[in-house]
Amino acid sequence: MGQSILGWKHCILVIVVDGTFLKAAFGGTLLTALTQDANRNIFPLAFAITDSENNNSWEWFFRKIKQCYGEREELCIVSDRHESIENAIKNVYTNVTHGVCSYHLFCNIKTKFRTDAEATNIAFHAAAKAYNMEDFEKYMKDLDSLHKGIRNFLPNEVKYEKWARIYSKSRRYAAMTSNIAESINVALKEMRELPVEPASTLIYSVQSGLTTNIVNIAKKSCTCNKFDLDELPCEHAMAVIRKMNLQYKKYCSYYFTKQAMLNTYNASIHPLGDQKHMESST
Ligand SMILES: *[C@@H]1O[C@H](CO)[C@@H](O)[C@H](O)[C@H]1NC(C)=O
Ligand SMILES: *[C@@H]1O[C@H](CO)[C@@H](O)[C@H](O)[C@H]1NC(C)=O
Repeated sequence: MGQSILGWKHCILVIVVDGTFLKAAFGGTLLTALTQDANRNIFPLAFAITDSENNNSWEWFFRKIKQCYGEREELCIVSDRHESIENAIKNVYTNVTHGVCSYHLFCNIKTKFRTDAEATNIAFHAAAKAYNMEDFEKYMKDLDSLHKGIRNFLPNEVKYEKWARIYSKSRRYAAMTSNIAESINVALKEMRELPVEPASTLIYSVQSGLTTNIVNIAKKSCTCNKFDLDELPCEHAMAVIRKMNLQYKKYCSYYFTKQAMLNTYNASIHPLGDQKHMESST
């Protein structure tokens, strides 16, 4: 995965991990680690085939990832709420943020409190994605009106910093959920029914209005907080940039530039070649 190791330096500081069952005769679990490129496409970092999702398999996977990809400052790892992921991250990394997928948490809330699914979905995800305390509080109040218990459940069960953008210790960018891992699981559906060796060959081929906001353009900041947290000019900043005839490219993070995109894919992937040739040469 040399290409991924070189490309990773040019991607946002978020790694989404997930485990999914393999369906071939010997079972097993496929662990994946992914990030997103400058254009929010899925960029695979690592995968492993293990017995199941447990403390040992996740810890081994994270140690290998750390060995290859290092521990970048302000790194955020996003996953579902599998306990062994949380244990493994604590054992392997000294200072990374672990965020949980807001979709998985929403499903837990929906099941536990038997609230109206649609209304809970809207309010909970809006709270998770909020860029400021006013919005966060507004959507939390909506949740209160659906079930008084939700507000108590959340900090006890899962700290705010784990699922709410506004409380997160590292930037989450667009990765409030682990949806990109689900997309890969779907893309690998056929592969997950194959025996291990052809399975790992196939993974390589997958690689192929009403409020007033104040923008501080020099500080790359806006009172809406979106510019600050996403490191991309928000709509207010874009208006200022256009009005002042500035170059919008100068106001987004390196991770969203054309240069980052080009650098991410700069290295080549060497195909494994035809299995027939491997056999005839041995
Ligand atoms: C996994 O690790 C946690 C924390 O280190 C521990 O409490 C738990 O018992 C372990 N689970 C198993 C099945 O060993
Ligand atoms: C941990 O990471 C945060 C940023 O995510 C940084 O501000 C802090 O200094 C780091 N702490 C240590 C002990 O490295």
